[in-house]
Amino acid sequence: MAKILVTYFSLTGNTKKVAEAIFEALPEEKQILPLEEVKNVDDYDLLFIGFPVHSHSVPYKVESFLKKLPPGKKVAFFSTHGSLTGSELSRQAIEYAISITSQAKIVGTFSCRGRLSQAALEILRRSPEHEAWVDMAASAFHHPDENDLEDARAFARWVMTLYPLK
Ligand SMILES: Cc1cc2nc3c(=O)[nH]c(=O)nc-3n(C[C@H](O)[C@H](O)[C@H](O)COP(=O)(O)O)c2cc1C
Repeated sequence: MAKILVTYFSLTGNTKKVAEAIFEALPEEKQILPLEEVKNVDDYDLLFIGFPVHSHSVPYKVESFLKKLPPGKKVAFFSTHGSLTGSELSRQAIEYAISITSQAKIVGTFSCRGRLSQAALEILRRSPEHEAWVDMAASAFHHPDENDLEDARAFARWVMTLYPLK
């Protein structure tokens, strides 16, 4: 049985790429699965859970998954977003994810930018809820890039340094 699970929700592949980079950097006893395929997390020692920011928050499927996590589970979050890294817009979703998993032990967070297709940008630009960040998101076009993926690997190694498997 693997001790570490990397799981992710990804509509257009950005978060999946980051998940795969994290997975590569982890030690042997590990598994990677899309969120939809995760049946039970009880036997894992540590979960890396990734999602794209949707409407400044956590996608609904991820939210319901997080709300069911067993108390005390070690969790590291990662996300991708169109807005600039470190901006309030990019932080809100991770902060929300942490707030709804208050019984879990959050061992780290990582986020980087992820491109939106031109078509998605055009559609979102028409909505008042999104127009504030859509122009900013256009410059995420090349992300996640190799530097982002290397940072994701470094994040995974750092979490394992802090919380080595027993
Ligand atoms: C419907 C929709 C809503 C989005 N809302 C936000 C948002 O509120 N803030 C943001 O920074 N990015 C937003 N994005 C951009 C995505 O978070 C970003 O492109 C992400 O990397 C997509 O990940 P994925 O390829 O794994 O699905 C949105 C994208 C879509 C399609």
